[in-house]
Amino acid sequence: MEVVVEGNCYVSGRLERCCVGIENGRISKIAKTLDGDKVYNFGSKLVIPGAIDAHVHFRDPGMTNKEDFGTGSMAAICGGVTCVFDMPNTRPPTTTLSALRDKKRIAECKSLVDFGLFAGVRPGTDIASLSKEAVGFKLYMASTTGGLLVTSLDQVRAELQAVAASGKVLAVHAEDESLRAREAEESLEDHMRNRSADCEASAIRKLGEKAKACRLHICHVSAKNSLPLLAKIPNLTAEVTPHHLLLDTASRLGTLGKVNPPLRRRDDRQGLFQGLKDGKLDIVASDHAPHTLEEKEESFDYAPTGMPGVETMLPLMLHHVKERHLDLGTVVRGLCERPGEIYGVNKGRIAPGYDADLSVIDISAASVIKGSKLHSKCAWSAFEGMHGVFPKAVLLRGEVIVEDGYLVGERKGRDSVGRQE
Ligand code: DOR
Ligand code: ZN
Repeated sequence: MEVVVEGNCYVSGRLERCCVGIENGRISKIAKTLDGDKVYNFGSKLVIPGAIDAHVHFRDPGMTNKEDFGTGSMAAICGGVTCVFDMPNTRPPTTTLSALRDKKRIAECKSLVDFGLFAGVRPGTDIASLSKEAVGFKLYMASTTGGLLVTSLDQVRAELQAVAASGKVLAVHAEDESLRAREAEESLEDHMRNRSADCEASAIRKLGEKAKACRLHICHVSAKNSLPLLAKIPNLTAEVTPHHLLLDTASRLGTLGKVNPPLRRRDDRQGLFQGLKDGKLDIVASDHAPHTLEEKEESFDYAPTGMPGVETMLPLMLHHVKERHLDLGTVVRGLCERPGEIYGVNKGRIAPGYDADLSVIDISAASVIKGSKLHSKCAWSAFEGMHGVFPKAVLLRGEVIVEDGYLVGERKGRDSVGRQE
């Protein structure tokens, strides 16, 4: 074997002391003992698949004062995320093949992690030309950062038909713009009231009527009352963010907690937490949406929505494993296996044929999250002061890229789309 990784590995749904043999960046064999040209022995530490963050905004091109593919991917890999899917609300928006290819070139130059790129759906988007190269399509049913709002599904009827025909996932920001209230906001409670749980429920119902031919994926579910609605739509998958699981309007975050869809009340996040355990929510994704602190210091009404999260997602979830609120299987399923399956990339499992993307974890070693120590350009975190279990080492396709928080590997991130062979 070219490379052998030895440790307490998460294989076929359980932990076992074994060796992972790697050739050409892919896992080729798993056995009790293996010889290798290069051997990494991680002893009793856990070895889990690299996480896939299926929802990030790396702001590149166009808003690189907030983040770029270099800093965003550094944050990702330091948090055990080895593959990210980037959203299309950049400048220019990723709605044409040339914009998608320009973004791909940027990511190939700067990224430390593998990636997929979403294409945005709006009237006139040439779905067929984008479908071979995009990881999936994104539809915004409510206004938020960037200008990709589609207020009525009737405006994109033909485009949705083409998405269905392409077989790619339609990931949706499901809030009904017509039900959004526009009262002045001074607090997270006000923001939540303007974007009520009914906004989310109504958007999900409309999708069930008008887009059910697509492989629907509901991004960042925020209300517990949405869970029974999701179950009614066949073949739908759903996502939840760490902030909707762990933060609420009582978290005293001010504008730092202003996101779309909004943080809600404690019983919502408890309901979502249970939904994740029950498998009603398929994946956890960060919706990493950095804005500078300066922008967040605007008055509440004017402050932009979104918060960073790619680096803290896996560590926060692993801390809940350490505290026995979640089992490791739920975390690996939601952050690694299911995103890989849903978006059809060869990642997210320790099994022969998969990319050798691995995180090495000491589950007893929690640390306190400090925004200023994280790697996003925005350098703040709404999870400040909470605990996280950060990976000790992270491998991308068989190469150690990060060890003890230091970059030791190269920038070799590449597009994961179309590499299944
Ligand atoms: O809060 C949000 N921020 N929600 C989104 O849907 C977009 C994101 C952003 O890009 O800033
Ligand atoms: Zn988003």
